[in-house]
Amino acid sequence: MQVNGQAYRSIWLAADGMGVEIIDQTQLPFRFQVLRLDRLEDAAEAISRMLVRGAPLIGATAAYGLCLGLRRAADSQALAEMANRLIGCRPTAVNLRWAVERMLRCLLPLPAEQRLAAAYREAGRICEEDVATNQAIGRHGLALIKKRWHEKQAQGPVNILTHCNAGWLATVDWGTALAPVYAAAAEGIPVHVWVDETRPRNQGASLTAWELVAAGIPHHLLADNAGGHLMQHGQVDLCIVGTDRTTASGDVCNKIGTYLKALAARDNDVPFYVALPGSTVDWTVHDGVAEIPIEERGAEEVLRVQGEDENKTVRTVAIAPAATPAVNPAFDVTPARLVTGLITERGVCPASRDGLRSLYPEQGQ
Ligand code: MRU
Repeated sequence: MQVNGQAYRSIWLAADGMGVEIIDQTQLPFRFQVLRLDRLEDAAEAISRMLVRGAPLIGATAAYGLCLGLRRAADSQALAEMANRLIGCRPTAVNLRWAVERMLRCLLPLPAEQRLAAAYREAGRICEEDVATNQAIGRHGLALIKKRWHEKQAQGPVNILTHCNAGWLATVDWGTALAPVYAAAAEGIPVHVWVDETRPRNQGASLTAWELVAAGIPHHLLADNAGGHLMQHGQVDLCIVGTDRTTASGDVCNKIGTYLKALAARDNDVPFYVALPGSTVDWTVHDGVAEIPIEERGAEEVLRVQGEDENKTVRTVAIAPAATPAVNPAFDVTPARLVTGLITERGVCPASRDGLRSLYPEQGQ
């Protein structure tokens, strides 16, 4: 996507073909800062500290992290240790494990001296495939937006509510939930996005809003608690969110607060769609609430907020008494029954075992 007239992806190989460059997402929307990663540990830190975040992007970063690690050691034992280090960085988004396991399947059968070059090739393929996948998600989601636009008889924009950031910053490019929005805007269909701020880390306020400003797409930021009210008053035509892990039966684990939006959407007959690449489906998990590990992050993310003051200095300030404890589950699970449909790179399907199997028959029974 374009940033100040220049095309960017969220991760790319540096000019020397060895280092990897990322956008430090902890600095947005205030600073656009590119960082170079040279060691596996740099990639691991970038994922843990959420300089990069979003399920597909942390998978791509881990794939390149293995490349960086292989520059130092390429034996199978070192490779297994590096894989474990990366997979352990964040527990919920399954793309992290998916990407690392895909790299291992490619690398382990090779002699050690061939692994480095093969790793860069495979990481590059993961990134290219992610871009193509998200473009396909955009095309399938566009059909839903178009349908809604015709139902509205072209009266006013199609109002889409999204939660967290599932735009291009969460993937290699285009995004998942925002890919249909970008596709609709490119076709001249008027869209307007309701952007949940997404406490505690405010990915909606700092990342989704920033993306939409850069793309010139009309939007409003809203406090997380405002979505239900807007739905009751007919101001939301569709919800589209991303997901960090989807079960084989269609339960969806996404940023904390997604579940409450799905409940409000159901109560108000607002279609609730989830956009995802096939790599986000965990075919080994069937009951999302019982089986998906939910990342617990530090209490300081709830007790403090980051913002820019009038002198353009970025500061973090407390918003609660120093003695108040806080809990910070980073994701929740929306049961499949609340999801209208899954928008994948292969088409739109019901959020159910049969729906997913119809699009991914190779996953067997
Ligand atoms: O904690 P984050 O910022 O990594 O969480 C990201 C989300 O929850 C996104 O909605 C999800 O990864 C889908 S991104 C295409």
